Amino acid sequence: MRNEALHLRQMMEACRRPANVLAITSGKGGVGKSNISANLAVCLAAARKKVVLFDADMSLGNLDVIMNVSSKYNISHVLNGQKSIEEITHIGPEGLEMICGASGLERLADINEFQRQRLTQELSKLQSQSDAIIIDTAAGISRSVVGFCLASDHVLVVTTPEATAITDAYAMIKVLVGNRFGGRISLVVNMAESIATGKRICRQIGGVAKRFLNADVDCAGVLVRDERLRRAVSMRKPVVLAYPRSQITSSIVALAAKLSDGLAARPNDEGFFRKVVDWFF
Ligand SMILES: Nc1ncnc2c1ncn2[C@@H]1O[C@H](COP(=O)(O)OP(=O)(O)OP(=O)(O)O)[C@@H](O)[C@H]1O
Ligand SMILES: [Mg+2]
Repeated sequence: MRNEALHLRQMMEACRRPANVLAITSGKGGVGKSNISANLAVCLAAARKKVVLFDADMSLGNLDVIMNVSSKYNISHVLNGQKSIEEITHIGPEGLEMICGASGLERLADINEFQRQRLTQELSKLQSQSDAIIIDTAAGISRSVVGFCLASDHVLVVTTPEATAITDAYAMIKVLVGNRFGGRISLVVNMAESIATGKRICRQIGGVAKRFLNADVDCAGVLVRDERLRRAVSMRKPVVLAYPRSQITSSIVALAAKLSDGLAARPNDEGFFRKVVDWFF
């Protein structure tokens, strides 16, 4: 009986579609990427999706703070054979899986073909075993941030109402379009004074992107500035768990629902991690 169950599971695994990959990016730093990534991951995991949250911030990754995990190992330890991908994975709230990953990718640009294949293989395991991979990128429009975004199915660009954040968000959209990104681009306005102001900013950026870049950028949601989010960070808890009945939690849940519509729509059949590895090496 056990063998039959195992066989069934293996057959189901074999027809599983690879995970959809959502990159969260912004251009400007400090606009809320990591908090949005962490909270979205928790929401999708609560909706029974198998979620991997990948910290792709090379130098100042702070997802471990928000999620209250400490990690000694990353992708570089997988690459040199010290650890398997499972051994560097942390289990977070609602069973989501979290990986501190990219510092290895950034530094090891001269790996050989064998190592390159091993890295692709190990990382691809993740994609075949999950429904959604959420990539929290670093601030800026560096080569590595752009590489992660271009390999994703869907890029969520975060801005705040500040002019500098809007300019950087637009610059990021421009770079994606200039690199012929074929996936979906969405916007979220964070730290808005009101939902109405946020929506207006979203529409403006979308309008400019359509007019000057001929790009379709949809408005995925607006999150207001809320002191509870800061408090949640100091409690080392995602705000959706620290304050489940707050307005910001409702907005994040709505954002997750909107984004998960897209999860079913466009499976990444080429392999996200293979594209990432090809970009880097
Ligand atoms: N909606 C919000 N209301 C109030 N504070 C917020 C909100 N969103 C984010 N913050 C605060 O802004 C700060 C930056 O957030 P976060 O670390 O998520 O940004 P980031 O874009 O990932 O930054 P970095 O570019 O450094 O990676 C945090 O201190 C967080 O508490
Ligand atoms: Mg961050």
